[in-house]
Amino acid sequence: MVRRLAWCSLEGYAERRKGCHAMTKRTSVATRHHPPKVDAALEQYRLRAHGYDAELAPFEPLRLDAIKRLQLQGGETVLDVGCGTGLSFEPLKAALGERGKIIGIELCPQMLGKARDRVKAHGWKGVRLVNGTADMAPLNGQADAAIFHFTHDILQQPEAIDHITRHLKPGAKVVATGLQWAAPWAWPVNLFVWGAAMYSVTTMGGLDRPWSTLATYLEELEVHSTWMGSIFVATGTWRGRPSKA
Ligand SMILES: C[S@@+](CC[C@H](N)C(=O)[O-])C[C@H]1O[C@@H](n2cnc3c(N)ncnc32)[C@H](O)[C@@H]1O
Repeated sequence: MVRRLAWCSLEGYAERRKGCHAMTKRTSVATRHHPPKVDAALEQYRLRAHGYDAELAPFEPLRLDAIKRLQLQGGETVLDVGCGTGLSFEPLKAALGERGKIIGIELCPQMLGKARDRVKAHGWKGVRLVNGTADMAPLNGQADAAIFHFTHDILQQPEAIDHITRHLKPGAKVVATGLQWAAPWAWPVNLFVWGAAMYSVTTMGGLDRPWSTLATYLEELEVHSTWMGSIFVATGTWRGRPSKA
């Protein structure tokens, strides 16, 4: 297993070092072989919903950093894709102000229930919660920004990214964060990645370059690694769909 992890890491590390993240195909080999499983994700997060906020506490600085990278302006609208229990809502609200809007999209009813409780407890206006999968959730209009915070399964679904970008204005800022394989020699770090992934995603496919499908939709893509290479932060601008001639 460790040899296999090391091989995956080697490939991803080499690509990251090259600093070249453009892809021409929107479906990675890993995704084709190991698509995410909605039923498994539902069960995973049904069981985790209760203790989820406490589990995520050590990672909260990453969330604040990701949201800062969106460079939000007061009154804008943000899609929080795979919003979970709504942990991003408070910092998003702080950046968006009273008139700003958040649309939280979430598969798991138990996670979304926690998000709903959070909105109610704070008395926030302008937060819409949508229970559904990111590839089909009913959305209206076009938002100014989108955040995919620790949503590996969603990033491995080209249909989900396609659907979400249809509801973004051209020029919208997008940020994605999550687990990735670290450098091959950092095998203890990769054991952490493996353990965390077993617990929180339903496909290990794409962990070498989790942002690669999203990258095909974005301009000015920047990818940073943190947590000893085990976590990526990818930021870019949705370029909009080419107009039909
Ligand atoms: C690790 S949690 C991250 C939650 C939240 N973004 C956060 O930062 O705390 C991943 C979330 O994605 C949701 N999810 C998984 N697959 C999904 C899909 N296809 N569509 C929408 N949500 C999905 C899970 O139910 C879970 O709540």
